[in-house]
Amino acid sequence: MAIAGSNGLLCIIFLVCYMFGLCFTDDASKYFDLELSYITASPLGVPQQVIAVNGNFPGPTINVTTNENVFVNVRNKLDENALVTWPGVQMRRTSWQDGVLGTNCPIPPTWNWTYNFQVKDQIGSFFYFPSLNFQRAAGGFGSFIITNRKVISLPYKMPDGDIVISIGDWYTKNHTALRTALDMGKDLGMPDGVLINGKGPYQYNASVPDGINYETISVDPGKTYRIHVHNVGVSTCLNFRIQNHKLLLAETEGYYTQQNNFTSLDIHVGQSYSFLVTMDQNASSDYYIVASPRFVNQTVWQRVTGVAILHYSNSKGKAIGSLPDPPNDFYDKSYVVNEAISIRQNVSASGARPNPQGSFHYGQIPVTDTIVLKSVPPVMIDGKLRATLNGISFINPDTPIRLADKYNIKGDYKLDFPSRPLNRPLRSDSSVINATYKGFIEIVLQNNDTVVQSFHMDGYSFFVVGMAYGEWTENNRGSYNKWDAIARSTTQVLPGGWTAILVSLDNVGVWNLRAENLDRWYLGQETYMRVINHEADPSNKTEFPVPNNALFCGALSRLQKPQKSSASIINERSNSNYQLLLVTLSAFIFTWL
Ligand SMILES: *[C@@H]1O[C@H](CO)[C@@H](O)[C@H](O)[C@H]1NC(C)=O
Ligand SMILES: *[C@@H]1O[C@H](CO)[C@@H](O)[C@H](O)[C@H]1NC(C)=O
Ligand SMILES: *[C@@H]1O[C@H](CO)[C@@H](O)[C@H](O)[C@H]1NC(C)=O
Ligand SMILES: *[C@@H]1O[C@H](CO)[C@@H](O)[C@H](O)[C@H]1NC(C)=O
Ligand SMILES: *[C@@H]1O[C@H](CO)[C@@H](O)[C@H](O)[C@H]1NC(C)=O
Ligand SMILES: *[C@@H]1O[C@H](CO)[C@@H](O)[C@H](O)[C@H]1NC(C)=O
Ligand SMILES: *[C@@H]1O[C@H](CO)[C@@H](O)[C@H](O)[C@H]1NC(C)=O
Ligand SMILES: *[C@@H]1O[C@H](CO)[C@@H](O)[C@H](O)[C@H]1NC(C)=O
Ligand SMILES: *[C@@H]1O[C@H](CO)[C@@H](O)[C@H](O)[C@H]1NC(C)=O
Ligand SMILES: *[C@@H]1O[C@H](CO)[C@@H](O)[C@H](O)[C@H]1NC(C)=O
Ligand SMILES: *[C@@H]1O[C@H](CO)[C@@H](O)[C@H](O)[C@H]1NC(C)=O
Repeated sequence: MAIAGSNGLLCIIFLVCYMFGLCFTDDASKYFDLELSYITASPLGVPQQVIAVNGNFPGPTINVTTNENVFVNVRNKLDENALVTWPGVQMRRTSWQDGVLGTNCPIPPTWNWTYNFQVKDQIGSFFYFPSLNFQRAAGGFGSFIITNRKVISLPYKMPDGDIVISIGDWYTKNHTALRTALDMGKDLGMPDGVLINGKGPYQYNASVPDGINYETISVDPGKTYRIHVHNVGVSTCLNFRIQNHKLLLAETEGYYTQQNNFTSLDIHVGQSYSFLVTMDQNASSDYYIVASPRFVNQTVWQRVTGVAILHYSNSKGKAIGSLPDPPNDFYDKSYVVNEAISIRQNVSASGARPNPQGSFHYGQIPVTDTIVLKSVPPVMIDGKLRATLNGISFINPDTPIRLADKYNIKGDYKLDFPSRPLNRPLRSDSSVINATYKGFIEIVLQNNDTVVQSFHMDGYSFFVVGMAYGEWTENNRGSYNKWDAIARSTTQVLPGGWTAILVSLDNVGVWNLRAENLDRWYLGQETYMRVINHEADPSNKTEFPVPNNALFCGALSRLQKPQKSSASIINERSNSNYQLLLVTLSAFIFTWL
């Protein structure tokens, strides 16, 4: 894999800088190159255009350590604009690096752009993907893992290895064809399959066509692996299970969970989990790894099933027989709610820092604002199919929101997003939430749509304090988990149900709040939260300034300069000579190698 990053080299650089007293920070830097391009692949046996990263589908894993400075040079070799986003990675103080249209101008075809952010005080499992133009439906994704610093203990025994698994529904239509269907007001319909690490199903029975390349995960008997699983798909919730193996849930999107065994777990679109899985079965055969659709009629959706193989190094034969059963909860609506609320934070475990995760007593903090966000099935607005939140379908402004602020562009967006669903005609608009910096807010996601939804917030983790079917009322607050609710960045909202989250608005910037279901998002089911420090901030302590390499578009297009050399953009956070010297030195060594 053509992915950069060298610990040894960084050690040398830091040793040198330490000796000369030049160190500006003890946080190392990691460099990555991600090149987005089209390839032809046939994951379901039908050749189609797929988005590769550095020639691979799925893309390489970005594996960094807490507090490292991350530089990712994204080169766009697609025939359309692109941005890469890293949901769940908090981009502290710098929504400039978030990679969504409300914060970044798109990277035009043939251009490249270097993201720079610190994975400050974070650990956990995330993934990256291209955020524009429905591109995620064609690939471009990969795992993004933040490993804990060695000095912070893990709440479990160090696993024998790490495995990443991306699961997702998949269409054999290319992403431009899917986009066209949505633009014409059509529903995308049932996907053509589920891919596991970019590959189609193992032929577990005759209903699966011949000649499909499937994924094999090789393991050694007796070992315990940490398996990171991401649902990178378009819109289908998937039930993940490994035949005969227990999934010990350990972490989700940056927080350690109370460790519980699952035989299967629903993973909603955009969510990530890590499981500790011990290879404790006899190797009389290989075992199935299954990702099957949920919240749909599974008989009708049978072809939409991902099947990979877990292969013990001493395995005596192929996996045979029928797949392990999905949960049988058709008549038991409480099953999914109970499963969701059983996922709780381990309050005594250390997260990214030595202090326990539970030392932030979120349940005792007074709520400063409540926002109820209601989604309904897509509707026609001005002759176009659109999806809404509180009756507003979001239109991305021409100029990214915070850039418009900084350059005094008026009328780019409106700060008038309603905090309750209003009884007024639905409309398309660039309405943004006027959120209060340092507020502690409650957001109720009310899903009046017919499909299960995933909601995601950039820049933050939030506490998932309540979830149920029915219409939310203030009385439901009594049922909130105020002690060990899981903190994460993507939550499911059941059809005809609600999910309540609490979030501490301590990260300045403009942050995307969206349906992670790609079709709903594409149709406008998103908005932004503008969280700004209204006090003077001359030392840029709460928010980093506009990066020197910022791209300009919309009302600021005239400011767009030709691309610069790497040394000048590599560190835009300060212009101290020491840093420049160091950066030039390291750039030189990197080039020289
Ligand atoms: C929670 O974390 C602590 C501290 O690391 C660990 O000892 C304990 O086993 C964990 N408990 C559960 C239920 O996961
Ligand atoms: C990430 O790197 C660490 C070492 O820094 C390694 O232990 C771990 O297995 C890697 N994780 C993945 C998913 O590659
Ligand atoms: C994408 O799909 C459309 C519709 O099937 C087709 O016309 C087009 O050629 C495809 N594009 C590529 C690059 O495969
Ligand atoms: C394939 O497996 C499914 C269950 O996993 C079963 O319902 C179906 O009958 C099987 N089809 C064939 C052709 O064996
Ligand atoms: C999980 O399952 C494994 C294997 O069956 C068992 O050894 C372990 O004790 C279980 N852990 C918990 C917390 O239930
Ligand atoms: C191995 O495990 C399978 C599944 O649990 C069981 O059916 C089989 O009898 C076992 N074989 C041996 C040789 O223990
Ligand atoms: C699923 O669809 C099949 C075939 O249309 C139908 O017979 C069955 O009743 C449906 N099951 C449920 C639970 O709706
Ligand atoms: C946004 O909220 C702040 C208080 O946090 C208030 O001062 C300001 O007037 C509001 N702006 C708009 C446009 O409503
Ligand atoms: C949507 O809201 C209406 C009116 O409150 C209600 O009758 C209907 O059952 C809701 N549907 C869903 C899927 O929540
Ligand atoms: C803060 O950012 C501004 C640019 O927005 C810059 O001119 C100024 O020098 C920065 N201040 C410090 C202390 O870095
Ligand atoms: C584009 O990539 C080159 C290296 O391939 C680098 O020197 C340059 O700085 C990058 N441009 C931007 C805007 O990141």
